Amino acid sequence: MSFTIIGTGSALPKTIQTNEDLAQFLDTSHEWIVSRTGIEARHICVDESILDIALEASVNALANAQIKPAELDLIICPTLGGDTVTPSLACLIQEQLGATCPSFDLNAACSGFVYGLDVADAYFSRNGDMKILVIAVDAMSKLVDWQDRATAVLFGDGAGATVLTSGDSLKAIQLTAVGNQHALSIPWPKGNHPLTTGQPHPAPYLLMDGPEVYRFAVAAICSDLRSVTQKAGIALADLDYIIPHQANQRIIEGAAKRLKLSIDKFVLRVDGCGNTSAASIPLVLDELNRNGLFKSGTRIALTAFGGGLTTGACVIEWA
Ligand code: ACO
Repeated sequence: MSFTIIGTGSALPKTIQTNEDLAQFLDTSHEWIVSRTGIEARHICVDESILDIALEASVNALANAQIKPAELDLIICPTLGGDTVTPSLACLIQEQLGATCPSFDLNAACSGFVYGLDVADAYFSRNGDMKILVIAVDAMSKLVDWQDRATAVLFGDGAGATVLTSGDSLKAIQLTAVGNQHALSIPWPKGNHPLTTGQPHPAPYLLMDGPEVYRFAVAAICSDLRSVTQKAGIALADLDYIIPHQANQRIIEGAAKRLKLSIDKFVLRVDGCGNTSAASIPLVLDELNRNGLFKSGTRIALTAFGGGLTTGACVIEWA
């Protein structure tokens, strides 16, 4: 017994920054950003905390599932980090919802949502009937250097949530990790112990080798989709929707071409949100669910890649 998704929710901060807005203070242009990435605008937490958007997405998902917070048995929060190192974001979401269940954060960068589903799957295998909230949230605007045009233009903030109950919608899931500090990393501030003062602290902003991540991402989408559909016993052509991590339109188009699949099978939403890291897949999942695109038997593949380097993919059959 694994799980079935019974509710989805999402939240975006209300401040929208267009490419033209960024060109006011960065040496960049709408044409460059849109032609290299497909991104036109992103939402940025200005008046909202990370907890605020995580909570809004969670409340929406619980309402969609018609579940009360007190019924939750577990909260898993895939994120690069919330407003505080501790308490974890998951614990603060639990407090604000009025839930009483165990709650923890999980860091697998942009693959975090699929990692979260895999951990949830293990809980269902162990405990049977449960209700689990997986709430993925990232505020990349707080983690990039706004003077670095090569990275700042790529990201945005958002939150996406799902409520899971026991069922058999998950047909296959797999994770990978290849430790690699060079391709993508965000250094952490190192404190002020007197023995370490005077040592240089790297700035706590995202560092990325764009072309290396690009190559890794295209290869990962292709190999993960091939193997996860094989495990699920279906062909790639049998999928109704492929929801990839929304990092860059060109990455997704490159993978579709290599897989000889129509780009129409891939859901592309990078234009309005940029790369929202762990939140990008559940944001799309919620949009399609709310628009009534999922019917009983709809086959959906999720495929993610991110810092670590990590990847995760799964096949879900909508109940
Ligand atoms: N505006 C204008 N020019 C820019 C900008 C910008 N925002 N950023 C870089 N450039 C310049 C560079 O300085 C360079 O100039 P030069 O030729 O004079 O040296 C030129 O544009 C080309 O730079 P490249 O890095 O080669 O551009 P590329 O075509 O590779 O595109 C990009 C860069 C978009 C980052 C691409 O490599 C990419 O998409 N990589 C994947 C990265 C990604 O998606 N990361 C997020 C995913 S990671 C994750 O989700 C965990």
